[in-house]
Amino acid sequence: MKGIILAGGSGTRLYPLTMVTSKQLLPVYNKPMIFYPLSTLMLAHIREILVISTKEDTPRLKNLLKDGHQYGIEISYAIQESPDGLAQAFLIGKDFVGDEPCALILGDNIFYGNGLGRKMQESVEDAQNGIATIYGYYVNDPERFGIVEFTKDPDKPNKNKVISVEEKPREPKSNYAIVGLYFYPKGVCELAEQVKPSARGELEITSLNELYLQQNNLAVELLGRGYTWMDAGTMDSLMDASEFVRMMEERQGMLVSAPEEIAYRYHWIDRQTLIRSAEFFGKSPYGQHLMDVVSGKMI
Ligand code: DAU
Repeated sequence: MKGIILAGGSGTRLYPLTMVTSKQLLPVYNKPMIFYPLSTLMLAHIREILVISTKEDTPRLKNLLKDGHQYGIEISYAIQESPDGLAQAFLIGKDFVGDEPCALILGDNIFYGNGLGRKMQESVEDAQNGIATIYGYYVNDPERFGIVEFTKDPDKPNKNKVISVEEKPREPKSNYAIVGLYFYPKGVCELAEQVKPSARGELEITSLNELYLQQNNLAVELLGRGYTWMDAGTMDSLMDASEFVRMMEERQGMLVSAPEEIAYRYHWIDRQTLIRSAEFFGKSPYGQHLMDVVSGKMI
């Protein structure tokens, strides 16, 4: 299973913060934003990851994440010349994805919740069996998102059946936003080639999801109580995300989305590698937290 982080876009909604840097490198409390989606893919046990960004920002992201060996994974990079839509990730990533299933996560989407890793690992299995999965999250402002309408699946208890998906509908059929995390079976790049530009001229991810729905191969999982999902793409949500992470880390004494910690707990890196990273980050809170993981103080 491969994974793509889409971390492009012009970031104009965050000007002047993003005039000389990438949105996905802005701080969310004590770490760069991209650590969060990267950690999410790692929690799904995805170890081959493509980061797609702009020509200007790709070298900056490369400076930060390198080839991924420090996290026991492989990271490669590709450029999106212009932000022509989320589904374009699968045209750009065609060679990287090859004949495998692939997940896509947006570089400004932050997920947190007990059991998220397990839930995603089930979606990975479904993708390996030809089923695509989207995730639904209850929101009060459904006009701003891709929306999924669903009902109970009569054939499978505890499962929902997708009825429709719509991108930013004027009259939403439900309050469930489709979050920026998608799991697709092999062949996704070929299917993405069939996506036509929308009225706003973008290759919409919702159009790709619609193709899976037409094939009867689209599942929806709900992120209910106990899960946090944030799209940190506006000033207010960026601040909220920082506050949220600070509160979780300081009150609970746990790290939120530290790739080194995940790699260590999954045995993808050894203790020495973790110590080297902790020492590298030195006296910063991030370095101190990693040291707490090394010493077993952080459980
Ligand atoms: O956040 C979830 C929502 O993300 C979904 O509910 C929608 O269905 C989906 O279309 C998307 O909506 P947004 O309005 O948030 O998409 P936006 O154009 O803002 O792009 C999301 C992120 O992806 C943003 O950080 C910029 C980046 N991006 C966007 C486009 C269109 C790219 O890297 N390349 C692109 O071509």
